[in-house]
Amino acid sequence: MLPRSPEALPPPVQSGFSPMIVCHCNGVSDRAIRESVRKGARSHREVALACGAGRSCGGCRPVVADVIADESVERTLCLAAPALAAAS
Ligand code: FES
Repeated sequence: MLPRSPEALPPPVQSGFSPMIVCHCNGVSDRAIRESVRKGARSHREVALACGAGRSCGGCRPVVADVIADESVERTLCLAAPALAAAS
């Protein structure tokens, strides 16, 4: 069962793997980007302001976009869970 709000999501998986550096210009990991999205960043600009990813050459922006989309889907599913449960 999904949590009722994005804030109730568990922290990022600590699988034993090192965080993946997505933005090499600024040394920003996927985990830092996910955390920025969880705290409210919804665009490249907001992510860049929050954690620095994408502030330089912009080469990481496609991957940043993937991370934003991935976290947004998770957030949408959490927000929709109560309505889906009530409808079933
Ligand atoms: S790799 Fe992210 S701004 Fe250059």
